[in-house]
Amino acid sequence: MNAMSKTNKYQDLYFSKKITVEKALSFVKTGDHIVSALAAAEPRNMLSKLHTISEDITDVRVSTCLPILEYPYFCDPSYKNQFLMEGWFYMPAVRKMHEAGTVSYIPNHLHFAGVRRNEHRHTNMFIGTASPMDEHGYLSLSLSATYEKEIAQVADLVILEVNPKMPRTFGDTIIHISEIDYVIEADYDIPLFQSPEPNEKDRIIGRQIAELIEDGSTIQLGIGGIPNAVSAELMNKKDLGIHTEMFTDGMVDLFEAGVVTGRKKTLQPGKMVATFALGTKKLYDFINNNPGVVILNGSYVNDPYVIGQNHKMVSINTTLEIDLTGQCCSESIGHRQFSGTGGQADTAIGAQLSKGGKSFIALYSTANIRVPGSNERKTISKIVPRLTPGAVVSLSRNDVDYVVTEYGVAHLKGTSIRERVEKLIAIAHPDFREQLKREANELMIW
Ligand code: COA
Repeated sequence: MNAMSKTNKYQDLYFSKKITVEKALSFVKTGDHIVSALAAAEPRNMLSKLHTISEDITDVRVSTCLPILEYPYFCDPSYKNQFLMEGWFYMPAVRKMHEAGTVSYIPNHLHFAGVRRNEHRHTNMFIGTASPMDEHGYLSLSLSATYEKEIAQVADLVILEVNPKMPRTFGDTIIHISEIDYVIEADYDIPLFQSPEPNEKDRIIGRQIAELIEDGSTIQLGIGGIPNAVSAELMNKKDLGIHTEMFTDGMVDLFEAGVVTGRKKTLQPGKMVATFALGTKKLYDFINNNPGVVILNGSYVNDPYVIGQNHKMVSINTTLEIDLTGQCCSESIGHRQFSGTGGQADTAIGAQLSKGGKSFIALYSTANIRVPGSNERKTISKIVPRLTPGAVVSLSRNDVDYVVTEYGVAHLKGTSIRERVEKLIAIAHPDFREQLKREANELMIW
């Protein structure tokens, strides 16, 4: 077959699969399970019209992760019998849904998200986004392979919104037109996610962590303000590599500055490995058609035993609250789900399986929190004698390694409770240290 007729063959197949959003939604049946691609890869046209079929269906489950936009049925309890959202990771829109009782959290380690979901509930429809088809009939799932490819492989129907604005990425994102049931053409802008500018506390924390990162290390940066700020402090390092869940703008800066080369990586040398990307247009332009970046299945990238194959693997994540024994609550405020475990434990454990690896939990010593039921705020210590009732332990005290605040570094791996109490109080805010000592004694945390 010559090149021209091959292209025509795939184009014919593509056009035969082209449908409207309305047609796609007409395939949804009562009791179906729909899985949506995550974050910036979410299929916005289908999700924004899902509520229009509410009179035709009941009890449809929608599993998703990190949804960026707030869709019409999200917080409206009148759709409760029609749609139940189940989420792997909460974002502001999902926190609102939780208040409305229209969502339930799926506890998970990210590398098991797709695998375990598949074991639990069959997927009737996978909906996602893709960059346009190439001459060989391949499209790219673009910004995420966290669970998308693995769910698409077992779903009854795979429907993708094909958008020329989605970057074309390589790895497990690559999908052939023959593996897709229907395509919907789309042209919306990709959601942008701008990290806040690092402040003085971020810079202090970043510098302390940077001092402990050796040249030739492979890094993972977690979600939240501090991990992003840390990347700015790594500019004078040499030959760093990337093996991360989330690919970020800071990593683009490090590559462009010649800091990230991947030359010393012991797993996939030269490649920047991630499971999804979320950031600004600069990031999306960088990963577009970039053979140096591979977006691979979350079940592979975030498997601690895979992570551990990178020598000098460094994971950098953050937490909401840590108790004096080292238990980290990184996903809930008391019993209220705030985000998710995501890959925090995966990457922290993986980094410690690595030869020369280190895992960091970085946090401000205090938080200025809203007082429930009022407009006032108060300052609390994020290092506490015991976690707030209901708090979810995202990273167990058995797996915590370095903890860093703007007041210093506590290396907890291998230490006793007594040593942890001392080390953590030493990096707590000075205003809270006496109180922490007192409470530790009263509670006999030693
Ligand atoms: N008690 C009560 N509220 C607290 C708190 C505490 N101990 N610590 C922080 N908060 C509040 C803050 O005041 C802030 O509230 P506001 O929005 O009203 O100002 C909110 O919680 C968020 O805190 P912030 O420190 O700004 O969060 P962040 O955006 O930097 O994200 C995590 C931090 C921990 C939520 C985020 O990193 C996360 O979800 N981690 C788990 C997943 C993970 O690490 N994955 C790694 C692989 S990507």
